[in-house]
Amino acid sequence: MPRVYLETFGCQMNELDSQLVSSQLRTLGYTFTPESDQADVVLYNTCSVREHAEQKVWSRLGELALRKARQPALVVGVLGCMAEREGEALIKRMPVVDVLIGPAELDKLPGLLDNALRTRASLLSDESVQELAATPEDEKPDVSRLRSARQVALHGAGSHGTTNRRSSTLAAAADSLELLDLSRATSPDDHQGSAYVRITRGCNKFCTYCVVPFTRGAEVHRPPEHIIDECKRLADAGVIEVTLLGQTVNHYRFEHDHAVTIDGVIQPQKGRAYTHKHGIHHDPYKLEKGEHVTSFADLLHRIHEQVPAIKRLRFVTSFPRSFGDDILQVMRDCPRICRYLHVPAQSGSDTMLRAMNRGYTVGEYLEFIDRARSFLHQPEIGRPLTLAGDIIVGFPGETDADHQATADLLRRVRYKNCFIFKYSPRPGTIAEKNLVDDVPDEVKRRRNNELLAIQNTISDEVSRSFVGQTLDVFVQGLSRKEQKAARKVDASGACSTSPGGVALTVGGVALSARGKAETSTDAAAMPSVGADAGGAAERRGAVQLQGRTEGDLIVLFEPPTGVAPDSMLGQIVRTRIDHASALSLFGIVV
Ligand code: SAH
Ligand code: SF4
Ligand code: F3S
Repeated sequence: MPRVYLETFGCQMNELDSQLVSSQLRTLGYTFTPESDQADVVLYNTCSVREHAEQKVWSRLGELALRKARQPALVVGVLGCMAEREGEALIKRMPVVDVLIGPAELDKLPGLLDNALRTRASLLSDESVQELAATPEDEKPDVSRLRSARQVALHGAGSHGTTNRRSSTLAAAADSLELLDLSRATSPDDHQGSAYVRITRGCNKFCTYCVVPFTRGAEVHRPPEHIIDECKRLADAGVIEVTLLGQTVNHYRFEHDHAVTIDGVIQPQKGRAYTHKHGIHHDPYKLEKGEHVTSFADLLHRIHEQVPAIKRLRFVTSFPRSFGDDILQVMRDCPRICRYLHVPAQSGSDTMLRAMNRGYTVGEYLEFIDRARSFLHQPEIGRPLTLAGDIIVGFPGETDADHQATADLLRRVRYKNCFIFKYSPRPGTIAEKNLVDDVPDEVKRRRNNELLAIQNTISDEVSRSFVGQTLDVFVQGLSRKEQKAARKVDASGACSTSPGGVALTVGGVALSARGKAETSTDAAAMPSVGADAGGAAERRGAVQLQGRTEGDLIVLFEPPTGVAPDSMLGQIVRTRIDHASALSLFGIVV
């Protein structure tokens, strides 16, 4: 069976997609390798959110083009957001690509990959092609005959992604993509205690800078029964931390079919009744008579009640609008829901927020933060609320005054970490079409550095406020320092990839690949650790492990004497925080 190398770029949504497609391919008999040059199939699951993310893939594909001249049987696939955004233009630019699949069509991967492998194999059995493969590099003629192995599945027909808006929430159940999530493997080896669960696909917000609504398509909410069932199966496989994924999780809303009795009476199923009296950001969805809707608050509550084996339930990303008190109440009342919110502001200037089409003002954002804190910030019981954010600097028209307003917002909100991105115009978006990218790069860089410096000081202060506290820590693996050392000890690469060769992150949320990009203030981007690496580190003596608090702060600690580090993986341990830096807390197991 062919060996596959799969590399993932982009957000948690992509990490989950990679896990799902790799488990599907493994079921079909494919094996995975962590080494690209040993693979028969190279797949890139790509991201388009910033130009930088795409550049990495272009350069990888350039390298593969050279390799394919030497290894004509190689099959190359581009999956994910970049495939959808670029469409077939991607193959025109990089003829090395055989398989092109957008994120909404990933369930088609096994079929298309099989076709590509077979077509390539039959092409290669053709004598003239064999001759071609044997021709020295610099004498090679046009290789266009080899290109006909191409397999393409995209949701949208044109360039710049899909404009198809499948609006029905009920469509999710019948969606073939849904089968990909439903059929996920739940063996303990796949998860190491922590897993992502998708609740919503796509996005309907159309922030003017953002490519996601074009690459991921229309917002579709998964049926709550499917989500809960998936959580149960993961819990049965030993998962104790679940991170629910959606671009705007708090907009989750599933409309159930009405049950009609024999005498024609509509019988809505019973939902959890919450009032939405407080604040201006009340739930916008009203229940009509006889209608039954599962809201995000309902969903959180149901998972919490029905799957108690999940000790930590968190979710990303929250949208600052329409985050009702009903959700905050559930978070406050349910002890296993983490008091953590990743709720990007993007800017501290109303002018910028309007130009970005975010749909809220700075005042409304701050009102939400205050409201969330009033419900959830309880350091006296060891349960503070921690916040993470995203900011875009250098959006078209951003003045020094706008920038200062963003600096003020950082000081006011006091995130524990904040991702700060330089604006990059994305083809097809409203900002790219209608606004001039007029903030010079050096100004973007300077503003970026200024915000990072402010945020670093705040992160440091937030971290230090935990010194002396006793906190539960979900153990993810070796610390970064240990991983580097382990890699030297075990150069096989076993420590930085999952058994399947898919770059995995244990423990979810803040291990976002976004942390690796550009200028995150989070120490996040840590690859996972398998038992091999634990063993490697153990052979060298003292081991430093890494875990996360409920509020997603990194804690570094050593296992107690006599306790095997591997046995702590995927578990929750209590630690007393001894000292802290901007990026990490240092704990002692108690
Ligand atoms: N749905 C999430 C964001 C998903 S994209 C939300 O609305 O909060 C992740 C982050 O990438 C965004 O929060 C934004 O800060 C950043 N981003 C998106 N498009 C960008 C662009 N064109 N240039 C720079 N940063 C961008
Ligand atoms: Fe992009 Fe806005 Fe949707 Fe987030 S909410 S994915 S920033 S369009
Ligand atoms: Fe990137 Fe697509 Fe995620 S553009 S951030 S991989 S939704």
